[in-house]
Amino acid sequence: MAEFTLPKNSKIKVGKTVDAAGGAGRSKAFRVYRWDPDSGENPCMDSYIIDLDKCGPMVLDAIIYIKNHVDSTLTFRRSCREGICGSCAMNIGGTNTLACTTAIEDIKGDVKIYPLPHMPVIKDLVPDLTHFYAQYASIKPWLQAQTPPPPDRERLQSKEERAELDGLYECILCASCSTACPSYWWNSERYLGPAILLQAYRWIADSRDENTGERLDDLEDPFRLYRCHTIMNCTNTCPKGLNPGKAIAEIKKKMISRNV
Ligand code: SF4
Ligand code: FES
Repeated sequence: MAEFTLPKNSKIKVGKTVDAAGGAGRSKAFRVYRWDPDSGENPCMDSYIIDLDKCGPMVLDAIIYIKNHVDSTLTFRRSCREGICGSCAMNIGGTNTLACTTAIEDIKGDVKIYPLPHMPVIKDLVPDLTHFYAQYASIKPWLQAQTPPPPDRERLQSKEERAELDGLYECILCASCSTACPSYWWNSERYLGPAILLQAYRWIADSRDENTGERLDDLEDPFRLYRCHTIMNCTNTCPKGLNPGKAIAEIKKKMISRNV
């Protein structure tokens, strides 16, 4: 049963404001979701006003600056700082995206930052992705083939076969798409969600993989696949410009074509 009001201890309160800009001309406020499970307190929105001339141009630069110079308790994930690892995904200005590839100057007014929506929060901007990764493991994201590889070379593909993977292999599993999807919000226990389905199609579309039938069998389920209602939030939000909605449609087409 969906719950439409937040439990009392989840209501977000107004937090502290720290003006670390010192009256600088190019300052900006970053309003950041904070929650510390050890404090027993409700989550709150802390505001940090910083001098943009003292940090790099991206939102990740700003929150690293805040952590290093203003408030060392601010907690978030990041690694590559160039849109490759997927770890800095968060909700910035109302959109799920990567903090390291989002320019501060593209956001009008205060920069509001929340963790990815509808995921359990471990602390501050860090969501618990345990279930997401378990769903990823469930689609067996590796090449499965019974035919032994040639003794003297890799399993080769034609240029056309390789091109089938374009738009799929670039996925960095940031979870921005799945956590923007209402079907995933309400049914994430059983619906795989756009990120995992795009990854599933990446192996279905791979000419070297020989377990296409089993992969489709695993997805033939009213929830695992068919809970997608083509809302397309996934495609609109993907920070890598990918189209999970299309990948899901391709899986559905394969389901139909093998049954006629
Ligand atoms: S499809 Fe895009 S938004 Fe979804 S997990 Fe992959 S890179 Fe992230
Ligand atoms: S830090 Fe790796 S994608 Fe942003």
